[in-house]
Amino acid sequence: MGKSELFGRDLICSQEWKKEELDKILELAKKMKKDRFSPKYTKLLENRTFFMFFYNPSVRTRQSFECAATELGGHAQFLEPKTMRLKTEKTAGETVEDAAKVMSRYACGIGIRILEDKISYYGQGDELLREYAKYASIPIINMADDKFHPCQGLADIMGLKEHLGEDLKGKKILITWAHGALARSWCSVQEAALICSRYGMDVTIAYPEGYDLDPEVMEKVKKNCEENGAKFEITHDVREGYKGAHVVYSRNWMSPNAYEGGEFHKQEEIEKALKLTSWICDSEKMKLTENALFIHPMPIDRGHEVTDEVASGERSIIYDVAENRLHVQKAIMALTMSERL
Ligand code: CP
Repeated sequence: MGKSELFGRDLICSQEWKKEELDKILELAKKMKKDRFSPKYTKLLENRTFFMFFYNPSVRTRQSFECAATELGGHAQFLEPKTMRLKTEKTAGETVEDAAKVMSRYACGIGIRILEDKISYYGQGDELLREYAKYASIPIINMADDKFHPCQGLADIMGLKEHLGEDLKGKKILITWAHGALARSWCSVQEAALICSRYGMDVTIAYPEGYDLDPEVMEKVKKNCEENGAKFEITHDVREGYKGAHVVYSRNWMSPNAYEGGEFHKQEEIEKALKLTSWICDSEKMKLTENALFIHPMPIDRGHEVTDEVASGERSIIYDVAENRLHVQKAIMALTMSERL
């Protein structure tokens, strides 16, 4: 019994971990999925508590982390930052340094979600996680900030390997913008582009003019593709990217103007997006693909991002990917927080 070499590590973006380290998570997640309640795993976090800070709502992340902690013999505690007297830009209160140092004396890890309407400029959520990581002596796990969503990215890759085979090289993923009424942060699509390119996939990103993602992240995706001999393309044509795709990932995301003037213009973003009705993943566009799988991190804005026919069709793997959140998070927690491996 002991610790893995990943013990104590923060996970804020998959790009910051070596590929071999990501492989370790995926290998353990696969074993944990196969043998879910084996006594090998059910005491790994016995008597340990994982804190979960949710600034924003969640179905999958909260529930899968709670189940993960339970299945490892520990406990996940749900915390709403608004109940904690934390210092903000506008109010006096406890500093991140003090909160992080105190919480490190209690728990085995801290998960944080902060994005969309809980920030006033792009990057602010990610900065908060990194500030916690600076002061905490226990792992900080990104449960979705405004830039990255590593647990989702790992669950995506696990699902793609299950359905397309272990080697994803030469497989093409289309990540396409879709219209919708949720004005979503860029975290899931940026993480998917980063991790799919690490695993050798050809990556095409399609969006209407005016919906650019973070140029620094796109530069990293391009570099990952170059290193793996894979293709990276951006198109503003709603159909072009579907051609030859083995995987289609459709998702709404906000424009780079969403936080203009230090405020989140949610309603304007939604009104602008809803006009672009041709940007929906439907059966007719899916016919252009190589019988592609459909993935989406969920929650899905059905009828906008994708039709029911595709989302609930036989090539959709949305529920497998959602289930994999549990298994990859169990593996992340075991490898970064358990002293009983
Ligand atoms: N995919 C995802 O993070 O889902 P939730 O927002 O429901 O947690």
